[in-house]
Amino acid sequence: MKLRSFIALTLVMLATLIVIGCSRPPTAVEPTQLATESGETLRSLAAKQDMFIGSAVRPRALSDEPLYREVLAREFNIVMAEHVMKFAPLHPEREVYEFRDSDTTVEFAKEHDMQVIGHVLTWFHALPRWLREGDFTREELMGILREHINTVVGRYRGQIYAWDVVNEPLEADGALRETLWYKGIGPEYIDLALRWTKQADPDTLLYINDYGEGLNSKSDSFYNLAKSLVERGTPLDAVGFQAHIGFLSAKDAAEVAENMKRYADLGLEVFITEMDVPITMFKGTREEQLAAQAQMYEDFLNVCIEAPNCDTFLMWGFTDRHSWLTGFTGGKSPLIFDEAYHPKPAYHAMMAELKQHVGSGAE
Ligand code: XIL
Repeated sequence: MKLRSFIALTLVMLATLIVIGCSRPPTAVEPTQLATESGETLRSLAAKQDMFIGSAVRPRALSDEPLYREVLAREFNIVMAEHVMKFAPLHPEREVYEFRDSDTTVEFAKEHDMQVIGHVLTWFHALPRWLREGDFTREELMGILREHINTVVGRYRGQIYAWDVVNEPLEADGALRETLWYKGIGPEYIDLALRWTKQADPDTLLYINDYGEGLNSKSDSFYNLAKSLVERGTPLDAVGFQAHIGFLSAKDAAEVAENMKRYADLGLEVFITEMDVPITMFKGTREEQLAAQAQMYEDFLNVCIEAPNCDTFLMWGFTDRHSWLTGFTGGKSPLIFDEAYHPKPAYHAMMAELKQHVGSGAE
């Protein structure tokens, strides 16, 4: 090749490389930057001790962001829909069900050999207008709830590890929350929903879920509710502790450990279901805030690992790019990966915590 054509070709190649380099989205991260040197992940370390470690998911991010999919599948072995399995999105009109987004979530999990938690069958929030504004008799409301449970739980029968059957059944003071279901059916809506879910999928685990999981009057009420359900023979396998630290939930991991113990005596599992920790709850420089956040994640994970009745730990998202707190309370940077999917100190603290237990053979 003549020198001149060689130089021309080299220039064209260089220009092409520069154009490719510049056209990348600004927050893109090379996947190679993400892998830990050892190749270990939260998922691989959790699996070694028969634990489920997971995150809430958003179908839009799943479909639009390759890195969201990549990190989710690599780091977690269980997922829960953040919004799309709630009553309103699933059942927007009395005769209409909309399963597309929840199907996407369940299919993604299946493809990547992950478990799914169903969230949620009864809650005071995310109810469709036809239900909120309808004037239904007790019998009609029972019929609506039973039909909803049969349809939704039936559709995913055999594919859901556990169902959150009753979400946030209590008010802040520990009284039963006066939800649409409570007002229309009575307190027995809780027993009925659990029984109907069991009938629709006998092999899924059933749990009730709330916040306030330290030692206080609300957590006593939650315990008493679970105890009375067990004593009545209502099907119940677990309770969920949301762990929205710094917003609604306990901040003291030792109290949470103490609270977990009494559920073991009832024969119930405890799941950590929605952990997040905004750094804005801590004082100091950003580095100090990130370190305090890491410690909080590590402490709560430690509580779960150490307890004989906790093997399921989920966070309310995994990347600061997608968190409900940002819009809702303004809480900043609450998750374990930053907005560009780089692991934060909290991620490394959780890895270290899991490694320590694999190393010591504690299971
Ligand atoms: C929140 C979601 O994150 C939001 O996207 C949604 O709009 C409102 O609900 N406790 C729960 C979750 O059980 O379902 C809530 O999720 C957060 C508090």
